[in-house]
Amino acid sequence: MGLFEPGRLGHLTLPNRIVMAPLGRARNDPDTRKPGALSVEYYRQRASAGLIISEATHVSAGSVSRPGTGAIHTAAQVEAWRRVTNAVHDAGGRIFQQLFHLGRKADPDRLPGRQPPPAPSAIAARGTLPGPQGPKPFPVPRPLRLGEIAALRDEFGLALVNASSAGFDGVELHAANGFLIEQFLRDDSNQRVDAYGGSIAARARFLLQLVDAALEVFGPEGVGVRLSPHFDIDGPGASDPALLYPYIAEQLGQRGIAYLHVIEPDSIPHPRKIAARLKEAFGGPFILAGEFTRDSAEAALAQSRADFIAFGRPFIANPDLVARFRQPEPVLNPTDEATWYSGGAHGYTDYPTLAQTLVNAG
Ligand SMILES: Cc1cc2nc3c(=O)[nH]c(=O)nc-3n(C[C@H](O)[C@H](O)[C@H](O)COP(=O)(O)O)c2cc1C
Repeated sequence: MGLFEPGRLGHLTLPNRIVMAPLGRARNDPDTRKPGALSVEYYRQRASAGLIISEATHVSAGSVSRPGTGAIHTAAQVEAWRRVTNAVHDAGGRIFQQLFHLGRKADPDRLPGRQPPPAPSAIAARGTLPGPQGPKPFPVPRPLRLGEIAALRDEFGLALVNASSAGFDGVELHAANGFLIEQFLRDDSNQRVDAYGGSIAARARFLLQLVDAALEVFGPEGVGVRLSPHFDIDGPGASDPALLYPYIAEQLGQRGIAYLHVIEPDSIPHPRKIAARLKEAFGGPFILAGEFTRDSAEAALAQSRADFIAFGRPFIANPDLVARFRQPEPVLNPTDEATWYSGGAHGYTDYPTLAQTLVNAG
């Protein structure tokens, strides 16, 4: 199997195995958190990807961080996202929406009433939040009461219906990178002693309940999940990843969801690598992400380590990454980190296409 072989994913047939990884770019309206014309253009430019997974999108007003991150809990936001999905579809592409809640990583200064953000337990993330006066430590969060967990599930439920109304082909639940769903999974952030903490099954309960809610809206063909078993930037991580993550993969496999998406960079030492076990335990379409090049992606597909490969930073700087990868010796624009979250068109919609680069070189 190669990068340019079509592949089945849920109800979609992707024309290639190249997935655009979710990438928050902070270009939404700072007040309404709606995507505007610039984001429509950004996603349209990248529609040749086999599948686009949208930037992480907040499910509620209780999940807020830097200005410009997107949300999908109001009718106006749904309307704005519909322009994005229409543009991608009109350009021949496919797009899932990544949904998330920040949990303990929300910024209390931006939350209604300036309260501490909700999380499974009162344990602060390691590290800092960006603020107008410079970085500040993550807050100690407020542990969720049981009834509040049900309310949070309802918030996800509304966002799922909204994502469907906005025309997304499916949703990806963001259970990675230290945000709320992962905070439930990991025992360094979840020390609850009720139905949502303690055993692996209890820690996975919140995620699986959200998956079941997503199945009701999209059916199994329109639901994906992202996991990051090696993420340890904001704390030591789960004490038992080799048991926790295969359990989750197996549970997701039983539900027959469209795909499992795992971040496992090549640089992870071999004895800690777990993706192969997760792929086997899941048994369905498997997307692998993390530091891939065209050639390492081809190798991973050839060795059946993945069915699809997600590219993050290469898609920031190369709207036509698929066309570039078709070249015998792909030449990629380098990504400019200074413009990842800077706002505006520069570093967002103005990276040159291959054709423009060749004209300029000629
Ligand atoms: C600017 C930027 C924004 C990102 N935003 C998200 C996000 O919204 N959701 C997510 O799951 N991962 C996010 N990631 C992680 C990427 O999806 C991807 O896993 C990571 O960049 C590694 O892949 P790469 O080596 O191909 O870049 C982001 C990464 C970058 C560089």
